[in-house]
Amino acid sequence: MNNKKYYITTPIYYPSANFHIGHCYTTIIADSIARFKRLQGYDVFFLTGSDEHGLKIENKAKEKGVTPKEYVDEIVENAKDLWKSLNISYDKFIRTTDDYHVATVKKIFSKLYEQGDIYLGEYEGMYCTPCESYWTKSQLVDGKCPDCGREVSLVKEQSYFFRLSKYEERIKKLFEEQKDFILPESRKNEMVNNFLNKGLEDLCVSRTTFSWGIPVDFDPKHVIYVWIDALTNYITALGYLSDDDSNFKKYWPADLHLVGKEIVRFHTIIWPALLMALDLPLPKGVFGHGWLKINGDKISKSLGNYKDPREYINTYGVDAVRYFALREVPLGSDGNFSEEALKQRTNTDLANTLGNLLNRTISMSEKYFDGIIKNPNKNDEPSKQLIDDVNTLKQKVEANMEQLDVSNALDNIFDILRKCNKYIDVEMPWILAKEEKYEELETVLYNILESIRICSIFLKCFMPETADNIFRQLNTDKTTYDTLYFGCLENNHKLGQKEILFNRID
Ligand code: MSP
Repeated sequence: MNNKKYYITTPIYYPSANFHIGHCYTTIIADSIARFKRLQGYDVFFLTGSDEHGLKIENKAKEKGVTPKEYVDEIVENAKDLWKSLNISYDKFIRTTDDYHVATVKKIFSKLYEQGDIYLGEYEGMYCTPCESYWTKSQLVDGKCPDCGREVSLVKEQSYFFRLSKYEERIKKLFEEQKDFILPESRKNEMVNNFLNKGLEDLCVSRTTFSWGIPVDFDPKHVIYVWIDALTNYITALGYLSDDDSNFKKYWPADLHLVGKEIVRFHTIIWPALLMALDLPLPKGVFGHGWLKINGDKISKSLGNYKDPREYINTYGVDAVRYFALREVPLGSDGNFSEEALKQRTNTDLANTLGNLLNRTISMSEKYFDGIIKNPNKNDEPSKQLIDDVNTLKQKVEANMEQLDVSNALDNIFDILRKCNKYIDVEMPWILAKEEKYEELETVLYNILESIRICSIFLKCFMPETADNIFRQLNTDKTTYDTLYFGCLENNHKLGQKEILFNRID
């Protein structure tokens, strides 16, 4: 155990009434990493929130005949409700419309202007309205937005600029010196080849063509353009430049910004440059994960290829959805979401490997020993092998989590559960009972229950409700990091009530 801190963030989401499973992906993963760090004894601060300004919101509110604030208020409640149904354990939910954020963003903008890092100029560029991004002609792909592939239009306006070009050399040095600043490695190559090596141009950071944003303090016809407003949430949420900056002092720099691959550029080039200009320490790492797709297509409203994630939660259970998001795709790669695959994982891994194992072990303990477990330590070779495997689990899971390889960490756990099932096949407890070899039988049941307990301590980070259910059935409070060793369950321990963990879905 230690008392180190860990600051982890998700991107702040554009308020959308149409959240899909892809949106849940980043947040479920960040939640599991946060829970894992807490298990290891870290003092964790887990931040998420919503990114509420901009032309798109202004337009949508107009269409609905409400103010932008009224429009986002309703949607943000919907997002919070979704995070609640997914058991997301965030420590703070920041809204870019929150007063403290607005006040600090204004201060940051003014400070950068006063020190010469922001200047007034004129912008003429290709603008993608849906992405709210300006692009240079050379960045366009077939004349269209390189991020979303949609049409762009030529826009000319007076704007404030951030001197991004000034930081080019320092960013290059950062990429060279801080080897794990961008993960996975392939994303770093993309950044270097597609952006850094082409040279960094100064960045337009204000707009005059809409008003739903944070006004520039000293020139209020300009609103602060999305990236300074959005990226700074990671420090305003901690109280940077406010009366109480104790969280900022405690948690900054971030240990991990977990983001989707399309916003890696903003987080690894623009964000560090802004922090350099503010003379603040840089985040330790940015991980750019891949996208969940549906049948190979982007999940999108226009394709109409998705359901509200709550529908999946209602059918399969929250932990089946979490498990799928965490297990199916190695973090970093794109992956496919399908209801068929979700069903398959639920039936095979959750109902069968885990649920059935627990159920039959508790049933046998009840049948043969009235639910009281004992450990006479009559360990034969297969038992010794299982115990050895369980004893190496912690090291394996921690090594994978250190690499943010969540999928393999889960596989390590399920590997033990599969081994428990095989162990039952080999030991055949019902034969031991028939032959009245009760000490051997007690040992076998103890070894399985103890393996399940240890697996569940880890599972709690990924599937919290399931782990709590297992602990209830085991009737144990040996659920913490310091009980992660084999043999911790007491002799004569009475198990709890048996329950079905996961129903098979047909
Ligand atoms: N508001 C910006 C982030 C600003 S952070 C300072 C934004 N918002 S977003 O709502 O469009 O996306 C939020 C996150 O959801 C991003 O990390 C994005 O990659 C992720 N995803 C959206 N659709 C996704 C999938 N289909 N699959 C996986 N992640 C996806 O960008």
